[in-house]
Amino acid sequence: MPALVVVGGQWGDEGKGRIVDLLAKEAHIVARYSAGNNAGHTIINELGEFALHIVPAGIFYPDKLCVIGNGVVVDPAVLLGEIEHLEERGIEVKGRLFLSDRAHVLMPWHRLLDALDEQMRGENAVGSTGRGITPAFIDKVGRSGVRVADLIDPESLLAVLELRVPYKNRLLEGVYGAKPLNFDDIYAEYKDFGARLAPYVADTSDLVQKGLAAGDTVLLEGAQGALLDLDFGTYEYVTSSVPSSLAAGAALGVGVGPTQIKDVVGVFKAYNTRVGAGPMPTELFDETATILRDGGPRPEYGSTTGRPRRCGWFDGVAARYSSRINGITAAVLTRLDSLDPLPAIKVCTSYQVGGRRVDTMPAATLAMAQAQPVYEELPGWQSDTSQCRKWEDLPTQAQSYVRYIQDILGATICIVSVGPERDQSIHVQGLL
Ligand code: IMP
Repeated sequence: MPALVVVGGQWGDEGKGRIVDLLAKEAHIVARYSAGNNAGHTIINELGEFALHIVPAGIFYPDKLCVIGNGVVVDPAVLLGEIEHLEERGIEVKGRLFLSDRAHVLMPWHRLLDALDEQMRGENAVGSTGRGITPAFIDKVGRSGVRVADLIDPESLLAVLELRVPYKNRLLEGVYGAKPLNFDDIYAEYKDFGARLAPYVADTSDLVQKGLAAGDTVLLEGAQGALLDLDFGTYEYVTSSVPSSLAAGAALGVGVGPTQIKDVVGVFKAYNTRVGAGPMPTELFDETATILRDGGPRPEYGSTTGRPRRCGWFDGVAARYSSRINGITAAVLTRLDSLDPLPAIKVCTSYQVGGRRVDTMPAATLAMAQAQPVYEELPGWQSDTSQCRKWEDLPTQAQSYVRYIQDILGATICIVSVGPERDQSIHVQGLL
């Protein structure tokens, strides 16, 4: 069985973790392929509620292997904390979780530089998660990172740090006027992290390849969403993962060929949200925004930073674009129940930019910031869908809404979720 990718179709927080948790049941291997602990997902299952930032969502099934691929940047303290937390709650992690020896390590200067750079940008700050992710990817691309293979070998770690720390200190002191970091402290702390993580480290590309050759189903779990992509997102208000979280990044981020990916599942929320700065044409500031943010069983606050999410109507222009650049073959629509109280629901079908009607996302930041949404209005259903378990249970207006979104995406919607619990899902068509 080939691999299947699960990607976020909007600005992240679409509920990918929840969907991976659901699909993982039928898979053998679940692998993360990009980003770092800027991502976060909350999973609610029979074992309780969990917030994960690095460990793939498949960890809750005892028979699945979980992989943190070479495309991920890993903060060792965060990963070790998650492993410890999962084990404390009775979830066996050893022998099931594998970390790529080629993944990059998030170092103390990355967090510092993230904060200092945001400060320097002032009112143009991106609103990063402050986890050091962009500086870590800058170092990866600039050939001055630290990789897991170095972390777990004290001699290599020493050699790499001897090159990196003085250089980073010159940058911190000279450019930002910040205090230098202490070499000995970093070496001692990271040598210890390396020793504790070593049992999890593997050539994960080989592991995934062997699984595929043996007929395993491999779920490749994306982070964030297409509109935060470095090339195709709302630049410069994007994240800097290399490879990207787009479906095309999945092959590179775990080390398989693109021909091994069969399906791309795009996860879309029934409306739009965004955390951090940057254009969001359908953003609302009225009572509807409050209903979307605070009205549902899971209020819209970032699972990594706790920041309130900006809320707005479903942006069909962005969703169509995202569906195409990801090559989506199937879709999932989440949080349909959040629309339950609304008498009417709007969907943006095109933008008005500088007096012109456009139906795709402009590349220029300024044009995107000026884009005015043109809406189509659909009737609401004003009834509780959280108890619906079959397509026929949904009110006809809700069915029409789902079909309307499906036409925009140009891909079949296979699952509709109506609440945070694992069983609050309507399987319209089988995915696996
Ligand atoms: P960074 O990835 O921390 O550098 O943040 C860059 C931008 O991406 C900011 O607008 C963040 O709010 C956004 N971002 C990063 N990760 C996530 C995520 O998992 N969900 C939603 N937004 C995110």
